[in-house]
Amino acid sequence: MAYESIRGLLARESAGGRATVQGWLRTVRHAKELSFLEVSDGSCLSGIQVVANPETRGFEDVVRHLTTGSAIAVEGALVDSPGKSQEKGQRFEVHAAEVELVGAAGSDYPLQKKRHSFEFLRTIAHLRPRTNTLGAVLRIRNAASMAIHEFFQHEGFFYLHSPIVTASDAEGAGEMFRVTTLPLDALPKTEDGRIDEAADFFGRPAFLTVSGQLEAEIGALALSRVYTFGPTFRAENSNTARHLAEFWMVEPEVAFCDLDGLAELAERFLKFVFAKVLDRCPEDMAFFAERIEPKAIERMRTVIEQPFLRLPYREAIAILERSGETFEFPVGFGRDLQSEHERWLTEKHVGRPVVVTDWPASIKAFYMYRNDDRETVAAMDVLVGGVGELIGGSQREHRLDRLEATIRGQGLDPAAYWWYLDLRRYGSVPHAGFGLGFERLVQFITGMANIRDVIPFPRTPGQAEF
Ligand code: 4AD
Ligand code: MG
Repeated sequence: MAYESIRGLLARESAGGRATVQGWLRTVRHAKELSFLEVSDGSCLSGIQVVANPETRGFEDVVRHLTTGSAIAVEGALVDSPGKSQEKGQRFEVHAAEVELVGAAGSDYPLQKKRHSFEFLRTIAHLRPRTNTLGAVLRIRNAASMAIHEFFQHEGFFYLHSPIVTASDAEGAGEMFRVTTLPLDALPKTEDGRIDEAADFFGRPAFLTVSGQLEAEIGALALSRVYTFGPTFRAENSNTARHLAEFWMVEPEVAFCDLDGLAELAERFLKFVFAKVLDRCPEDMAFFAERIEPKAIERMRTVIEQPFLRLPYREAIAILERSGETFEFPVGFGRDLQSEHERWLTEKHVGRPVVVTDWPASIKAFYMYRNDDRETVAAMDVLVGGVGELIGGSQREHRLDRLEATIRGQGLDPAAYWWYLDLRRYGSVPHAGFGLGFERLVQFITGMANIRDVIPFPRTPGQAEF
């Protein structure tokens, strides 16, 4: 039998005709001669109500024994919902001719019809996609991903597949996970007693990538405009609501582009993605606005409609110093902005997205373009409400001598970056790129407070169960 998605069924013009549904039971209610089954298949937020009566095949032996969480297949007629259900937004229901049990769920099924805490749901990550919230998050992730590809394809970018295993530290911050096949309990040693790295799988130390940027630069210096969209890994021990050890990053890289052009690209990009998500996920967005963050839709509209404010870091610091606010972390030139500062600037002070530019070189990565003042680099962070830093990027240092000096100055080994330096030897051009944290984007869209609840399988210190 060919089954239709519930999304498809609910999108029908009118009732009448045959309906086939397969999905999981959200709730089961038995009355004297009738059973009401709410079935959901994840194709959209709504489930559909199935009504069974003694005429229904399987009524006595299947329907009357059904439990929440069980998987069923239904065949019947699509009819208009009675007035009361219509008011709750349910246009149609299915009057079942036959109900079949596909997979029973034990009576200990953990998702009963009540609100569970997000903390609890993380302990059952294998079942939580069946909840309204996680289901909506996963559909939003899908829509946002497609919008991201659409934007870059429209703008003439090529999707570049950057590697996941790498030998170079793209951020120079030493927060990398080691990848090895060496036996940890019997490490091969060299004659002088050190670990024999040459005996490892790649013949050298290898790691999970923290960013696809360096390889994206290779792509941009050949194809002019590329972007990556893949998983990145950071072994930083931060247990915050905005950090994961494994997250997805979108990294466009553009040749013949400076910081100004990059900031414009970031603004166009975010506006495009938010407009598409609002357009394509009205039901899920209404859910987030109602249940999670009342301003979820409104603040996306603000991003779409308002121009972003450009604010040099130096001015941002001066504004924060004059703010009269008591922050937990100190503010001053040469200090990184903390999430509280970022949020105060964008939420309280400006009320729309802020692009903080021209950061002190001392707190930024080695690859950033050194400004003429010699003290700052052509870097930018895009700050948005609720999340703080959503995007980090920069114009790249394309001058060989400057780049080499900075690599040395930061205590890194130029030999390890030989090919990156080579790009500055052969046809180097000004270029720029940024990284968008995809989960932070989804946090902004949905209003979900904790980043662990916007990715299907969160990895954080001590957690990698599913
Ligand atoms: O600012 P970051 O560290 O920049 C880079 O990695 C550059 N190589 C990007 C580039 O220029 N191509 O990271 C970029 C973004 C941040 O703005 C943030 O949104 C997100 O990635 N991010 C994280 N998201 C979740 N968990 C973490 N631990 C994150 N670290 C960064
Ligand atoms: Mg950053």
